[in-house]
Amino acid sequence: MSNTRIAFIGAGNMAASLIGGLRAKGLETTQIRASDPGAETRTRVSAEHGIETFADNAEAIQGVDVIVLAVKPQAMKAVCESLRPSLQPHQLVVSIAAGITCASMNTWLGAQPIVRCMPNTPALLRKGVSGLYATSEVTAEQRDQAQELLSAVGLAVWLEQEQQLDAVTAVSGSGPAYFFLLIEAMTAAGVKLGLSHEVAEQLAEQTALGAANMAVDSDVDAAELRRRVTSPGGTTQAAIESFQAGGFEALVEKALGAAAHRSAEMAEQLGK
Ligand SMILES: NC(=O)c1ccc[n+]([C@@H]2O[C@H](COP(=O)([O-])OP(=O)(O)OC[C@H]3O[C@@H](n4cnc5c(N)ncnc54)[C@H](OP(=O)(O)O)[C@@H]3O)[C@@H](O)[C@H]2O)c1
Repeated sequence: MSNTRIAFIGAGNMAASLIGGLRAKGLETTQIRASDPGAETRTRVSAEHGIETFADNAEAIQGVDVIVLAVKPQAMKAVCESLRPSLQPHQLVVSIAAGITCASMNTWLGAQPIVRCMPNTPALLRKGVSGLYATSEVTAEQRDQAQELLSAVGLAVWLEQEQQLDAVTAVSGSGPAYFFLLIEAMTAAGVKLGLSHEVAEQLAEQTALGAANMAVDSDVDAAELRRRVTSPGGTTQAAIESFQAGGFEALVEKALGAAAHRSAEMAEQLGK
């Protein structure tokens, strides 16, 4: 990315987080620019990151190699159509908008190389994970550029098929909320068992963090880690058996299936 120039269209939460990540990786302020209709947003982003900002999207993309579409899905059609007359064929378009397909973007933008990504909220802390899909027009160098861009806010994982982004949405896109739900439920159960809310919440949150770190750092999978902390006839086994008797795995499968289905349904509606 040493010579790559990047324009962000939309300078909201995700764009600011990506810009912060890129600056931390050593990109110069002159390599990054952003456009946004909000004067306050533009002032905040330029003050925070020292980059040039624009009210006009078409002006922002002049001379850049990569254009990051970081607007809400509902704004994508209008943004793409407004950029179309100013696009150069070699410019890579990276979209982080949930549910907007490459086919829809190609209709609105013309035949442009596109990488479609699904990041998640922890990207705001640079601890996210993103699924990435590239159309056949994307070159190897452009894939590397997209990889580096999303790696600035966490882990970036390539997908072979665009449709798999619905599964990514179900697992990691919506995933943080599942863990929040588990933390909530464990906190409430801890309170019922006699802890104060504050203590139960600290225990649940720190346990989630510690378990996630162990799963990420370990050479063995989560099932093996679970077996290692589950002594026969012990307390953990009693809890796991209760989860399983209540149909935990089937419930998770059903929940993620519902999220993937909704993701495909929304893509259908938003692409019109
Ligand atoms: N936040 C997440 O955790 C997350 C996770 C996965 C994917 N995403 C995707 O990332 C995208 C951005 O999300 P976000 O959370 O960063 O949203 P956000 O904070 O609302 O940022 C979007 C920015 O785009 C601006 N904008 C609106 N219309 C525009 C236009 N025509 N041209 C240029 N800029 C325009 C908005 O300005 P106004 O506010 O004035 O409209 C806003 O500042 C969304 O498509 C979302 O699906 C976000």
